[in-house]
Amino acid sequence: MVPKFLLIGFILFNFLGYIRAGVTSSFIRSEWPSVDIPLDSDVFAIPSGYNAPEQVHITQGDYDGKAVIVIWVTPVEPGSNQVKYGKTEKKYDFTAQGTVKNYTFYNYTSGYIHECHINDLEYDTKYFYEIGEGESARSFWFQTPPKIDPNASYKFGIIGDLGQTYNSLSTLEHYIQSGAQTVLHVGDLSYADRYQYDVMGVRWDSYGRFVEKIQAYQPWIWTAGNHEIEYMPYMNEVVPFKQYLYRYPTPYAASESSNPLWYAVRRASAHIIALSSYSPFVKYTPQYQWLEAEFKKVDRKKTPWLIVIMHAPIYNSNSAHYMEGESLRAAFESWFVKYKVDVIFAGHVHAYERSYRISNIHYNITSGVSYPVPDKSAPVYITVGDGGNQEGLASRFNDPQPDYSAFREASYGHSTLEIMNKTHAFYHWNRNDDGKKVETDSFVLQNQYWNKSIRRRKLKKNYLHSTVPTRQLDNV
Ligand SMILES: *[C@@H]1O[C@H](CO)[C@@H](O)[C@H](O)[C@H]1NC(C)=O
Ligand SMILES: *[C@@H]1O[C@H](CO)[C@@H](O)[C@H](O)[C@H]1NC(C)=O
Ligand SMILES: *[C@@H]1O[C@H](CO)[C@@H](O)[C@H](O)[C@H]1NC(C)=O
Ligand SMILES: *[C@@H]1O[C@H](CO)[C@@H](O)[C@H](O)[C@H]1NC(C)=O
Ligand SMILES: *[C@@H]1O[C@H](CO)[C@@H](O)[C@H](O)[C@H]1NC(C)=O
Ligand SMILES: *[C@@H]1O[C@H](CO)[C@@H](O)[C@H](O)[C@H]1NC(C)=O
Ligand SMILES: [Fe+2]
Repeated sequence: MVPKFLLIGFILFNFLGYIRAGVTSSFIRSEWPSVDIPLDSDVFAIPSGYNAPEQVHITQGDYDGKAVIVIWVTPVEPGSNQVKYGKTEKKYDFTAQGTVKNYTFYNYTSGYIHECHINDLEYDTKYFYEIGEGESARSFWFQTPPKIDPNASYKFGIIGDLGQTYNSLSTLEHYIQSGAQTVLHVGDLSYADRYQYDVMGVRWDSYGRFVEKIQAYQPWIWTAGNHEIEYMPYMNEVVPFKQYLYRYPTPYAASESSNPLWYAVRRASAHIIALSSYSPFVKYTPQYQWLEAEFKKVDRKKTPWLIVIMHAPIYNSNSAHYMEGESLRAAFESWFVKYKVDVIFAGHVHAYERSYRISNIHYNITSGVSYPVPDKSAPVYITVGDGGNQEGLASRFNDPQPDYSAFREASYGHSTLEIMNKTHAFYHWNRNDDGKKVETDSFVLQNQYWNKSIRRRKLKKNYLHSTVPTRQLDNV
């Protein structure tokens, strides 16, 4: 049986370098107003009980998926730092000890932020955990991923620029229905920096409570966006990413990174690289050196899928943030092609856009083409900055649609990438269509390394040069 999306998701592609014109969707949806949900709403409810743990969220805690970091906040006093956990509900055979920190931001003082690393978990296992004390104790659960295995199937969600509006809530609710197991969050989380003074910290707290119903149960792999920078000299707050880094730790040391803002994890059959668009990345910088080394560590025989996440998109044809990814493209694009990255997810632009497989790596300031050309080794670039934050949609696309752009639409939504095995993954973009979940853009993603026809074709390269292939149905 051929699923419907296999039929609607195809792309025509031509080897001569002329790509079929992309699609700009004219769909206009009536949206919720782009305002944050009021602080007294139920979605931000403070859990009952004295000093009850709140804002519970988890992320992967090691390189290969056998560890979890649990983060939570206690509002009144530090309280217990422990996570009790085990494989049976309400029966916790193990405990792990965390650390606690607090900070000030202007005249806001944070609650007590706990960070607890749970190590040596078994793969593919459901764990129950409890934090807090006595009447205020709260319990949750999570499922560890399968062991690193080239054939492992796994379903990722991709969310960007989420914020805390009614549109954000709609995105979260649709995401919950997707059945995905881990979120790749491409940056811009709370949009607390849209406020000033002590309200900024307050909006980080409300965001933490808002997303807890998902983030306490499955890991989110996050990367920082520009809204995390919070460089605010007028408040004498000049340490970039301060609040974000207190609240959203990453397992960066496990991938030999020197900084929590860029790191990699391996999960099931995927190797995921999280980059920082707003940290130095040119040659000789720590991020550049780290990425160079990390790409060499990728073993497609163990993790066939190579995914990169970052905040600012490289191929974006929206008038919002146009070309902001250009400097990072100049630094890293040739590696993305050389290492055959399967797909790159970014956010920042509050709309959806997908590229063809193209690259722009031949220009060397002396000669060579200086525009994007079809490139079978290049990743697909997908922008999903459409989580639903208070800045609203970026609805002005550049006209005409550039050749590299396959599909674009200014609506809120989220994506899923369902890896089936080492050769095939199903990709969907789901628009939040007036309260319903609508699959709008979908295709079969073929693995860039385990594609037999590409490897065969390579051997016959010289013959291919002289032939002019006809237009063909192509998967990306
Ligand atoms: C953290 O909490 C302690 C104990 O309540 C308090 O004494 C200290 O001032 C707080 N630190 C910051 C940076 O606010
Ligand atoms: C923080 O400072 C602002 C500006 O001075 C003031 O309006 C506000 O009341 C202060 N908030 C707290 C919690 O002290
Ligand atoms: C993965 O699946 C293929 C095809 O079913 C099989 O040949 C191969 O041995 C499997 N590899 C592993 C590591 O299980
Ligand atoms: C620049 O690119 C052109 C065309 O690809 C090539 O012939 C030339 O050798 C390159 N120059 C340098 C300095 O790499
Ligand atoms: C991988 O998954 C695709 C899509 O479900 C399927 O068509 C293909 O046969 C699978 N390959 C293997 C080796 O199982
Ligand atoms: C490999 O890639 C080519 C070109 O992108 C595509 O036409 C083909 O269906 C893919 N085949 C497999 C087995 O992945
Ligand atoms: Fe952004």
